[in-house]
Amino acid sequence: MSAPPNRRLGVLISGRGSNLQAIIDAVAEGVLDARIAVVISNREGAPGLERARRAGIATRTIRHTDYNSREAFDLAMVDELERCGVGLVCLAGFMRLLSPAFIHAFPAAILNIHPSLLPSFPGLDAQRQAWEHGVAVSGATVHIVTPELDAGPIVRQAVVPVREGDTPESLAARILEVEHRIYPEAIRAVLDGGWRIEGRRFVTGGAPRGVL
Ligand code: GRF
Repeated sequence: MSAPPNRRLGVLISGRGSNLQAIIDAVAEGVLDARIAVVISNREGAPGLERARRAGIATRTIRHTDYNSREAFDLAMVDELERCGVGLVCLAGFMRLLSPAFIHAFPAAILNIHPSLLPSFPGLDAQRQAWEHGVAVSGATVHIVTPELDAGPIVRQAVVPVREGDTPESLAARILEVEHRIYPEAIRAVLDGGWRIEGRRFVTGGAPRGVL
């Protein structure tokens, strides 16, 4: 059984921040027993930063363009997260690939949300990839981050049926609704402990991880 990370969250964003907002709301409503210690954006003026400020959460902008290597940028973020006492890092629309140096600084303590049923459709524009492929169901996945893109142990998944007449945009909008539901649930599951990683499986000893 892995020891669960401490309940101080660091949320990394690049843009809109609607998943960040879902986490802020879950904490405020008391359904997620955690504290958001810091929100870091790699883009100045990301709308999510304003959401954090409105909630009284500390924010930092660490621009990847100010560093001459991915490692240097990542280590600047690690420094800030450690300074803030962060136990669990949550990627919420963070558009940079993390280096092994970052991932090793937070072993099994970095989560990401991805808008497809992984391992289908990793990478960018997953909702459009699924729509163009013609799948009948898609969804969202929260997983532990490993060096391979969108490939770490799956903590939670939810299914979203594709409707006749859907566009990539309408499908993405319905997937986003379930993202907002499962991300706080997945964070809670990780913080509550009682799980372990076996191979690439997140094993909970019975708690359901899938949502239809
Ligand atoms: C979400 O669809 C998330 O799954 C993906 O990037 C998008 C971020 O949206 N990783 P937001 O910034 O949380 O609104």
